[in-house]
Amino acid sequence: MAGIKAFVDSCNGTLDSVPDRYMMPNEAADVSRYAVLPIVDVASESFERDLVDACTKYGMFYVKNHGIHTEDVMRCALEFFNSPSEDKMRYYTEEIFTPVRYCTSMMPSKEEKLEWHDHLQMWLKEESLGAHPWPAFPASYKSVSRMLLVMSEGLGLRSNRLLEAFAEMVLLTRANFYPACPNPRQALGMEGHTDSGGLTFVLQDGVGGLQLKQGEDWYNVRPLEGMLVVNMGDQLEVLSNGRYKSILHRVMVNSKSSRLSVGAFLGPSLDAEISPIPELVSQESPAKYRSRTYRDYMHEVYTEHFSGKNVYVA
Ligand code: SIN
Ligand code: FE2
Repeated sequence: MAGIKAFVDSCNGTLDSVPDRYMMPNEAADVSRYAVLPIVDVASESFERDLVDACTKYGMFYVKNHGIHTEDVMRCALEFFNSPSEDKMRYYTEEIFTPVRYCTSMMPSKEEKLEWHDHLQMWLKEESLGAHPWPAFPASYKSVSRMLLVMSEGLGLRSNRLLEAFAEMVLLTRANFYPACPNPRQALGMEGHTDSGGLTFVLQDGVGGLQLKQGEDWYNVRPLEGMLVVNMGDQLEVLSNGRYKSILHRVMVNSKSSRLSVGAFLGPSLDAEISPIPELVSQESPAKYRSRTYRDYMHEVYTEHFSGKNVYVA
């Protein structure tokens, strides 16, 4: 199982149908609606208000002037996927907590059907960033801690309250490569899911394919050059006792071209016990979620491969 890119490449352009293992009938590949999402400008005077508004009303939004060198990040990711298979396979593992993981789909040995992507996943801690080959993620740490301060205040809490609940900020970066697919109606780049972490930052190329669900309908998330797509994950939904919602999203594939995205998932320490922040729990607003460590949470998400919303209700 060297990955879907290696398989598609080995067919030398002759692949004309989706292999059975990847068959996920998907009539919604033709959705033509686009989501209307706010743009939060880090450099604007109204940044703080706009951010809280986007978090409470939308759950997914664009961020501009974020200071991340998007081209360097994308170039680095593409170099990895284009490197020889044997080099990539040195990092191949299904184990989700290894510092560097190259894999395909979620946990292929346990999945009946596979998602149409390969990925490179890396766990980063703040102190190891200087030595890291990803060129631009240190910048994200700065904007990210600022965002978490503002988001705490948006909940009516002290500004460092969310950071405190995280115990330590851990960044999981994940580059995804989705090869061109002979029949986009029969495969999915990524099944519908909410992100397990706290806050997700996604860089995508111009191809498109990301969709989010609003109400009963799926909408395309238009790629906007140089901007990040930001959404909240399950840990923030739990900590905020449901005031910030983690958003259901998925990825379509494309018959014309491959697609590349790089996500940075900012989450708490793997050992932090995550439950609704006590100040947000009252008789009128009881705890909606039960407590668990981020590690246990992640483990269950990967091994049981939940499709859709995976927040645990208390
Ligand atoms: C993800 O949901 O983690 C991937 C998003 C994307 O590829 O745009
Ligand atoms: Fe996601």
